[in-house]
Amino acid sequence: MVTGGCDSARGPDAIRHRSAGTLTLADLEALDRDDPLRDVRDAFLLTDGVVYLDGNSLGALPRATPARLQEVCARQWGEGLIRSWTAHDWIGAPQRVGDKIARLIGAGPAEVVVADSTSVNLFKLLAAACHLRPGRPLILSEPGNFPNDLYVAQGLQGLSSGRIELRLVPAGQIEAAIDEQVAVVLLTHVHYKSAAVHDMTRITERAHARGALILWDLSHSAGAVPVDLNAAQADFAVGCGYKYLNGGPGAPAYLFVARRHQAAAISPITGWLGHARPFDFVDEYAPAPGIERFLAGSHPILGITALEVGVDLMLQADARSRIEKSRALSELFISLVESRCAGQGLELASPRSAEARGSHVALRHAQAWAVMQALIARGVIGDFRAPDAMRFGFAPLYNRYADIWHGVEALRDVLHGAAWDRPEFRQRHAVT
Ligand SMILES: Cc1ncc(COP(=O)(O)O)c(C=O)c1O
Repeated sequence: MVTGGCDSARGPDAIRHRSAGTLTLADLEALDRDDPLRDVRDAFLLTDGVVYLDGNSLGALPRATPARLQEVCARQWGEGLIRSWTAHDWIGAPQRVGDKIARLIGAGPAEVVVADSTSVNLFKLLAAACHLRPGRPLILSEPGNFPNDLYVAQGLQGLSSGRIELRLVPAGQIEAAIDEQVAVVLLTHVHYKSAAVHDMTRITERAHARGALILWDLSHSAGAVPVDLNAAQADFAVGCGYKYLNGGPGAPAYLFVARRHQAAAISPITGWLGHARPFDFVDEYAPAPGIERFLAGSHPILGITALEVGVDLMLQADARSRIEKSRALSELFISLVESRCAGQGLELASPRSAEARGSHVALRHAQAWAVMQALIARGVIGDFRAPDAMRFGFAPLYNRYADIWHGVEALRDVLHGAAWDRPEFRQRHAVT
């Protein structure tokens, strides 16, 4: 709970120094007027009356994206045709946008490429890591990690004829479990459900001290929390393009391979665009010398085009303001929920301390699914994660402090009046 009563603090600090019970909508609107990121919000197409708290699942649409896609379709594809691979440097798009993402995650030039989905990139890098540590059978992760990441590791285990095994130990025991048997530690930096943040530097150091490698999934981190892969000496990383990076539904993902590993790490998908000379069309595979060896097939130019618009917007926003605002929004949300929705059966399922938390907040409730459907019907959009969590994501580029107020007021209304208790809100959908 926020404490004290220092009304003179400005910006996000004003929230930290005020008791949530004393905050008013007018206070939050004043914060929005003073917000250094205020103008960035105008770069997004957001519908009036909708409070979008789901940028951690699918970021909002940048206004510039449709026109940019139209231009690439009509001019580059329609008129330029095959020539655009060279004339508009389509061939270099994964590296160009990868270099931009690198600036958001503390990587250097030519250490990141945009490619495939997060799942496919995870497979490529897990296989590469295991190959770099022959004789070590274990991929170490935590139970309750994003299930997809565990499925991919299980797939690799299945293919390995018993050479590779996925071992899961609870988050608090990971560091102690890293031993000479571990080839690679696989962790999601910000947990997809609870938003708990792992200490990247400490766990990476521990892995290296035991001769193991580390692979970080940054899907819920990039653009939302501080990430410095090279300061932490991380080996590998992957992440989504469609969450905080606002690349659009099914946007291509990205992968990071530390420069020191690039000569020895081998992708298991030895596709032609990862070849040293793809247009020589020789029969023998020879990996490209650098990060390009982790490309596989032809890149999705339209997808990368949309992603680049989102990444450019993120780069325009001052990093410190982004991180501060993301913390302030989630802190405000929790404080308002505590003061406005007390006694309504909600339980915080995220760390209480802002430093230990990413940019989303999970609340448990016995009727989480129905409550979320009732909220969505009122224009407050978050999501549901089985079995009983509502997730609310805070995107510093376009969420306003006043949005948090309206979101919590809607939650309070839905819970107080049991507005969730209707048959249409109990109906489960394929996508949650
Ligand atoms: C932590 C995490 N990793 C991986 C993925 C899957 O990414 P993709 O759909 O790009 O394979 C997600 C998707 O939500 C995710 O949250």
